Amino acid sequence: MRIGILGGGQLGQMLMLAAYPLGLETTAYEAKAFSPTALVGNTTIGTTEEPEKLRDWSMHCDVVTYEWENFPAPLVADIAESRPVRPDPVALAKIQDRLFEKRLLADLKIPTSPFRPIDNKDDIETAMSELVLPLIFKTRTGGYDGKGQVVSNEGDDIQAVLELLNTGPLIAEQKLELTKEVSVVGVRALDGTIKTYPVTENEHRNGILHKSTAPASVAPGIEAEAREHVTAILKHLEYIGVMALEMFVVGDRLLANEMAPRVHNSGHWTIEGAEISQFENHIRAVAGLPIGSTELIAPTVMVNLVGAIPDPKSVMKISGAHLHLYGKEPRPGRKVGHITVSAADQTALQQRVEAVESLVNNVLQ
Ligand SMILES: Nc1ncnc2c1ncn2[C@@H]1O[C@H](COP(=O)(O)OP(=O)(O)O)[C@@H](O)[C@H]1O
Ligand SMILES: [Mg+2]
Repeated sequence: MRIGILGGGQLGQMLMLAAYPLGLETTAYEAKAFSPTALVGNTTIGTTEEPEKLRDWSMHCDVVTYEWENFPAPLVADIAESRPVRPDPVALAKIQDRLFEKRLLADLKIPTSPFRPIDNKDDIETAMSELVLPLIFKTRTGGYDGKGQVVSNEGDDIQAVLELLNTGPLIAEQKLELTKEVSVVGVRALDGTIKTYPVTENEHRNGILHKSTAPASVAPGIEAEAREHVTAILKHLEYIGVMALEMFVVGDRLLANEMAPRVHNSGHWTIEGAEISQFENHIRAVAGLPIGSTELIAPTVMVNLVGAIPDPKSVMKISGAHLHLYGKEPRPGRKVGHITVSAADQTALQQRVEAVESLVNNVLQ
């Protein structure tokens, strides 16, 4: 079986690395000549402006999936005419648009921060008067790592919001006082089996994920609720593969933020910290194979390497540290790798995390 992956970034690279020992072939479709997938496996260089090339590539795949959620949904739908695409392009199209995504959450009675669609200047004023300030204005499509967002408070000049609106329609959300940020990764197999990973606690710096800790330190009720939410979404969309749901803990409440229709950075810890990783489970699911245990092996922390690579030898001297480099040239704000550490108990884990963090010199901008 040959699995096609749309996108050639590190997520695609880790999917390829997970597929190989299962005896499954992979091929990526990626615009850039040098990409993380090209370093480890078959990669066709092609853009979204070359539908013929894309169609031709997909004809050599038994099933097509994606690692990049901004791949144009209509192109993915074209592929689905002749090849199984998992997860379904309908799910992709919904999740690509923050407004559809929030409405889907509302339909499933999953709480979110109050929001309003913003199509023009009047909508900005209405949202500012109807919601509790400050607000976060976000582009409906294309945003990632905190890009495409503007915060606006009472009395602020709305010029920055208007500039953002010039790029396309927006959504306005109430900016919440976050107690913590968490996420949950879930996977649904072709036969409808669903499994969820332990809830992960996430720390962001400058809008970019810095550190993920599993399991999250949250009340059992929150843990159960998070897993129920992602399960409900997977069922509703008849989704096949891995999905991540990012959430906010505000006091004792859990609010959904956004979904990712793919493997997720906050699930990288599962490579060493869970029985079967998110990457292997995604590959298994899209290949129509049985999915495996999502149980935690030991408490695990992942630290992202952003804009700079620490001395590999120093990382390797930390007992139990796993270095993952994606083969990308370091540039400010660019994710170039991650380090994972596990330990049997929290004290040992914290010592290892401190050792890792003392080596990490991320360059965020
Ligand atoms: N409604 C909100 N209230 C408070 N913080 C928010 C809100 N929405 C987003 N954020 C902060 O901004 C970060 C990025 O926003 P997010 O919606 O996840 O977009 P992205 O697609 O860039 O990840 C979040 O991880 C969180 O830290
Ligand atoms: Mg996010």
